[in-house]
Amino acid sequence: MTQLPGLLDTEALRKDFPILDRVVHDGRKLVYLDNAATSQTPRQVLDVLSEYYEQHNANVHRGVHVLAEEATALYEGARDKVAEFINAPSRDEVIFTKNASESLNLVANMLGWADEPYRVDADTEIVITEMEHHSNIVPWQLLAQRTGAKLKWFGLTDDGRLDLSDIDRVITEKTKIVSFVLVSNILGTHNPVEAIVRRAQEVGALVCIDASQAAPHMPLDVQSLQADFVAFTGHKMCGPTGIGVLWGRQELLEDLPPFLGGGEMIETVSMHSSTYAPAPHKFEAGTPPISQAIGLGAAIDYLSAIGMDKIHAHEQALTEYAVKRLTEVPDLRIIGPTTAEDRAAAISFTLGDIHPHDVGQVLDELGIAVRVGHHCARPVCLRYGIPATTRASFYLYSTPAEIDALVDGLEHVRNFFG
Ligand code: ALA
Repeated sequence: MTQLPGLLDTEALRKDFPILDRVVHDGRKLVYLDNAATSQTPRQVLDVLSEYYEQHNANVHRGVHVLAEEATALYEGARDKVAEFINAPSRDEVIFTKNASESLNLVANMLGWADEPYRVDADTEIVITEMEHHSNIVPWQLLAQRTGAKLKWFGLTDDGRLDLSDIDRVITEKTKIVSFVLVSNILGTHNPVEAIVRRAQEVGALVCIDASQAAPHMPLDVQSLQADFVAFTGHKMCGPTGIGVLWGRQELLEDLPPFLGGGEMIETVSMHSSTYAPAPHKFEAGTPPISQAIGLGAAIDYLSAIGMDKIHAHEQALTEYAVKRLTEVPDLRIIGPTTAEDRAAAISFTLGDIHPHDVGQVLDELGIAVRVGHHCARPVCLRYGIPATTRASFYLYSTPAEIDALVDGLEHVRNFFG
């Protein structure tokens, strides 16, 4: 068995994830390499979810009965856990949403409806990058269309990195917001934050970071990132689906207007007008994703007990091994950085002229789950002149043996289509 320095004790860890024992297709053991799409859920999180529904289920912030108070305490306790996990200066800076897409749409809409100095209008510019997930492109396109603002972006280098060579011309005095991904879901690139934040601050622009592929895999400290907003999602970090987070700097959240109106986000309502509750409640209209937030809190407990630095080291070791092994596969082209440096554990590739959907299907028959397609990052495929990629992505329970299975599987695919 391949041993690499820095690996976690996956034999013990994998016992926490019942689904990893699944057998698929003719008795083949599941090799789950689609973690960038969604991660698996450990027993510890499943137990918290069942206990919530068996013992505490109620709506939050509304009732005076015992279940309502317990549910509220658990939901708000999850906010405390998120705040600590990302080193937020205040728990009131943590807004629960349904996913990272909603978090990013929330930022775009806050700015679209804001007064000066935050307002995005026809005299201003929005900056993103060519490696964004559609969730960090489309909300800004919608905002640009609605306001007349100009949408600009950083292009990519041939080796899958951000091209920041023209940073002073991309981010200008007109820029209101720079929104970019910390780790690309398709390329695996881990982007440099400092240079972008420095330039944005120089011109007084806000910075929003999509940390969906970073928060599950490495320590995340919103204070050291020095951004104004950070978005991520629960289901990629051992939590349930239906829960996302937007962290925002307190003074911004106080100043910016709400996006969705409804119950729980108000202070008072008359037939003529309303006043709003303080953040974060101002941004959480209606019944929130209660059990999902509590499940995310349990996932954070689980990940924190292992240690985000240890999880990161584990994935770095796997990434280095996977890049090396995949590079040995004839006709395989990695789309993204070809070294493990400043790259994370999502590795996209093409295999000769075999369509990625065919690659994915044959791998699936072998029990190996990968994602194929444009990964909701179609501009990246256009940039590199490919219709789609196959993507293998790893997590804390992934093993070198699974990478070996992938490489053997790709050999099988080549022979099958050869
Ligand atoms: N954003 C997820 C992915 O990259 C769904 O697969």
